[in-house]
Amino acid sequence: MRKIGVLTSGGDAPGMNAAIRAVVRYGIYNNINIVGIHNGFKGLVEGSYTDMNLSSVADIIHRGGTVLGSARSKEFMAEKGLSKALRNIKYIGIDGLVIIGGNGSFRGSLELENAGVPTISIPGTIDNDLAYTKYSLGFFTALTTVLESVEKIRDTSSSHGRTDLIQVMGRDCGDIALYAGLAGGAEMVIIPEIEYNMEEVCHKIMQGRTRGKKHSIIILAEGAGEAKDISERIEEKTGITTRYSILGYTQRGGAPSAYDRLMGSQMGVMAVKLLCASQRKRAVGVTDTGIFDMDLEEALAIEKTFDKTTYELTKILSI
Ligand code: F6P
Repeated sequence: MRKIGVLTSGGDAPGMNAAIRAVVRYGIYNNINIVGIHNGFKGLVEGSYTDMNLSSVADIIHRGGTVLGSARSKEFMAEKGLSKALRNIKYIGIDGLVIIGGNGSFRGSLELENAGVPTISIPGTIDNDLAYTKYSLGFFTALTTVLESVEKIRDTSSSHGRTDLIQVMGRDCGDIALYAGLAGGAEMVIIPEIEYNMEEVCHKIMQGRTRGKKHSIIILAEGAGEAKDISERIEEKTGITTRYSILGYTQRGGAPSAYDRLMGSQMGVMAVKLLCASQRKRAVGVTDTGIFDMDLEEALAIEKTFDKTTYELTKILSI
């Protein structure tokens, strides 16, 4: 392994910079040249890259976003784009690639593998929708950002005696809503994995009122419905003023949490180690006991299961 390329793809996530830094520093420590590909797979198609040195990654471990830039490249997934990318990989002299991103990025890794390029994939997405790993880089930072907003909204919700619906990101995955619901003490979470019952939501709100609660917080995952529509229906049924807030892109930015920095660093090092050991088509992940790697295709074939325990716990603890 003489030259390794590293890229970040899809929605950016806090912790990606820690992983880039680790790939660059650990690679150079082992006398490997590292190139940083700009803007994900788009950069591979366009042949846009930088030779990285120790200083290229100075002062980035604490920064959100990705210093390499990111994109969702439709061109790469088309035959013409892929062959351009393969030509550039050959021209730059890349022997292996570290790809940091979510579901779509991992599918990109597989395309490259099928074309003969060794890859190691690192999970970086706030959505936490990759089933094979317990957590992905950025998830815990996004969760903290969501909780900061929940607490602020709770203050004003209490003052005005309202119900507040807070919409969070996650695409088709309810993890951000689910975990924020438990950690933020929400009355209810509405997530795509489980059909919600409007009667039950309103009953929960009214039950809280009866026992003197001044506010109600409902966390809605973006994949589970329209915030405006749901809040209007809640107000109509309960007669309680109901407001909604869509947290949006604040969730994707900000300084990475300690956990995301630590995981990013460890995963970046593991990716370089795997390539040096002639391993390929591997996905790096994390369990409660530490990081691991597994076959990329097997990782992608695992279906995300719904975390019923956390869902039930949120309901029980908010009675
Ligand atoms: O995958 C991360 C994510 O922030 C999702 O939660 C959201 O649905 C999506 O990206 C938004 O993507 P984009 O910024 O490309 O519109």
